Formats: sequence, C-alpha cells, structure tokens
Amino acid sequence: MNILDGKKTAAAIRGEIAETVKEIKNSGHRVPHLGAILMGNNSSSETYVSHKVTDCQEVGFRSTLIRMPATVSEEELLGKVRELNGDPELDGLIVQLPMPVHISEDKVIETISPDKDVDGFSPVNMGRMVAGLPSFVPATPAGIMELLKRYNIPLKGAECVVAGRSNIVGRPVSILLSQKGVDATVTVVHSRTRNIAEIIRRADIIIAAIGQPGFITADMVKEGAVVIDVGITSVEAPGTKTGWKLKGDVDFENVSPRCSWITPVPGGVGPMTRVALLLNTLQSYRAQCMLMPVK
Ligand code: GUN
Repeated sequence: MNILDGKKTAAAIRGEIAETVKEIKNSGHRVPHLGAILMGNNSSSETYVSHKVTDCQEVGFRSTLIRMPATVSEEELLGKVRELNGDPELDGLIVQLPMPVHISEDKVIETISPDKDVDGFSPVNMGRMVAGLPSFVPATPAGIMELLKRYNIPLKGAECVVAGRSNIVGRPVSILLSQKGVDATVTVVHSRTRNIAEIIRRADIIIAAIGQPGFITADMVKEGAVVIDVGITSVEAPGTKTGWKLKGDVDFENVSPRCSWITPVPGGVGPMTRVALLLNTLQSYRAQCMLMPVK
C-alpha cells in the first residue's frame, strides 16, 4: 500500500505558485487577488475561510475578506456581489456556503460573474465543464485530478466508481474522469443504488464522496485498487486533545492493506482542495490579464 500524500503534493504546488507570484511581482504587475464573502459566524465556515486567507498569504496572493451579518438581506448581498464582479483588481470571488436560510444560494451563485467564479459552482462553469470547454472546475474535483496526475495513476480505460453525486464533488469528478483524453470508464453510485458493494468491488479506482464515515469497507475493495477518500466527518475521539477527529468515508485501517494507493484523512484530498482554489485564482488572474493588461 502506498500513500497518495495530498499534504506534501499541495505544499509543492504552493511552492510553484509562490515562484510564479514572485515573477509577477518582479515584472511590476499586481498580484492575483481572491475575495471571499462570509456571512454570520458558523465555526466550520470561519475555519474554511481563514484557511483560504492563510493560503493566499503563503503564496503571495492578495485576499479580501468581506464579513456580513447572518441577517443580511438577499438584496444587499447580491448588491455586494455585483459590486465585486465589477472590480477589475479582483480575480476570484467566492461566497462561503452554507448561506443563511433566507438567502437563495442558487441566486447568489448565478449572480457571481462566471469569469470570477473560482469555486466553479455557477451553471455557466458547470455547463462549460460538461461540454469539455475551458472552465473553472470546483476545487475538490480539480484537486483530486491533480493528485492522480502527479502520482501518474493510470486512468485510460480504468474502471472508476464514484460514490456520491453531489454538485461539488461526485457529479463533477465523474464528468472529469470520463472526459476525452482522460478516458476512464465511470460508474456513479448513490444512496438508491442496488448492489452497491458489488459495483464498487469492480473498481480499479474508487472515489468515496458520500459523507458517511467508514462506509467503504475492505470487502468492497478489489485487491490493488486506488482509493480516494473525500470524506471529512468530525467524530468523537475520546483521549485526543480536542476530543474530536476527522474520519473519512473509507475504513482506512482495513481497506488500506488491499490498495495499491490510498489517500489518508486528514492529509489527502483536503490539502489538494485548498491548493486547487489557489490554482483557479491564478487561472482567473491570467485570463483577466489577457483581457486587460495590468500594471
Ligand atoms: N463550503 C464548504 N466548502 C465550500 C467551498 O468549496 N466553497 C464555498 N464557497 N463554500 C464552501
């Protein structure tokens, strides 16, 4: 069993991005700039957003965090999004999910300019991705594809089973894996799938993105399979410092001996997701610069 080390890979990519930013600065241009809107003070969202700000600092990007109260009206939020859409010095804009219940997430996501939608959640970017056109790809699927690429995991003709069909992980990763040029054969399984274990057992590559800790057990995994674990559920862990730990969708202890490659939790997909947002912001910066030469 070999570890697909997302932590180490993401650190290497951050180093590459930081080098690029240095070159940008040395040539006298402004640096890439990510904006994030955070409503309320949900503790998970606070953590996610603070990671995004720290990651930007580490590679030399500019970041702007816009805080709004959980009681903000939809109109006021949409006004802010439109204002930021029009800022020529902002390359990427994300609105942290989940949003307060009185706000339509769909409406907000559709209002973010597709050119700045570095989360890749807008229907325009989703549609472009499905059509195989250049687009922003949501960070977790993009991070998974980059990890597979950097470890030279063979995908052409491979049987991939994606467990989970969410708009931000399962569905997009299934599309990316089956794209021309990647050429995997993809099956998506979900909560209504019959004989789920039997289908997963056929897989050369398993992407587990269902959010049920320990769902993928050793009997579901073919000898030599590659396993990508997207799950990050907090579970009680008596005796640890915090009393909690992150658990993936895969029963790592019993599954890992059967695998050729497997991602750990933590330290697998999570860091790749974080660095993929930076790559998307850099991609947006480059596109904006082509439209409008910067100084
Ligand atoms: N909440 C949890 N993950 C994400 C993400 O990737 N983007 C946004 N905007 N909100 C999130």
